[in-house]
Amino acid sequence: MSRCFVTRRLPGDALQRLGLEHEVDVWEEAQPPSRAELLERARDADALLPQLTEKVDVELLDSCPRLVAVADYSVGFDNVDLAAATERGIPVGNTPGVLTEATADLTWALMLSAARRLPEAEKDVRTGTWGWEPSFLLGHDMQGATLGIVGMGRIGSAVARRASGFGMEVIHNSRGGAGVSLDELLERSDFVSLHAPLTPETRGMIGEPQLRRMKPTAILVNTARGPLVDTDALVRALQEGWIAGAGLDVTDPEPLPRDHPLLSCRGLAIAPHIGSATHAAREGMADLAVDNLLAALRGERMPHCVNPEVYERGTRPIRPAP
Ligand code: GLV
Repeated sequence: MSRCFVTRRLPGDALQRLGLEHEVDVWEEAQPPSRAELLERARDADALLPQLTEKVDVELLDSCPRLVAVADYSVGFDNVDLAAATERGIPVGNTPGVLTEATADLTWALMLSAARRLPEAEKDVRTGTWGWEPSFLLGHDMQGATLGIVGMGRIGSAVARRASGFGMEVIHNSRGGAGVSLDELLERSDFVSLHAPLTPETRGMIGEPQLRRMKPTAILVNTARGPLVDTDALVRALQEGWIAGAGLDVTDPEPLPRDHPLLSCRGLAIAPHIGSATHAAREGMADLAVDNLLAALRGERMPHCVNPEVYERGTRPIRPAP
């Protein structure tokens, strides 16, 4: 029996399944573990099931001498130092597929919300400060607009599929130069939606030059990772009207401090990183993360491994838990 440290209680019954074979230690507090608490609780774990908020870096990996598996509870795994895990022969798993449609739906919710100025509209209703007027709260049409998708992977493609129902033209820019160039996409799109993973290459990919290339009527949507966008540049873009609005599920930093200037910008629709927050998606993620741990602890390949090099000949062998 191995010891698994799980950094938050998960929806569904996946953890019970894990508990049938292993000792499961769950962080039950409302607040996430502090760094010191994480290091302390993970120290004698054979396997970790962290959230995207926990940094799995060299310090953490080296403070867990028994560690044989990390199963991230997310599809994006930028919280894990993958090179360091690979060097140590530790497989890292993620949760692809099960959250694709939920995240695409939220992308559309934010795109429509920013286009039709729903946050302002709701505030006006709640404060009773509106009256019918022909030019009140005018927004942007979807029909006939161009949607530019940056990163046509699973989620980007699901967002693109929905666009046909809205009568939009879709263009994209993807890894390896597929589609149109990023500059062309920014210049042509009425809506720009980001679906790239966060890597050293994509960090800050939307900064002042890119925002200035966009149409003044365009809307930027980010449901991927906050640091893809230079936040200070985005604040200026919204304040100075380089673009018309933004729909954000992710920000940098995250959470934003309550007095952050982004929160006072006009044209902003914002959510607290809830792209995958549906019952089915979050239960599906728990199942995949547990499947990854169970396989690794049996000394088998993780079904969703993001560093399969650990299984290749010539690298360190798979280490089943002692
Ligand atoms: C959420 O942001 C995820 O990567 O799963």
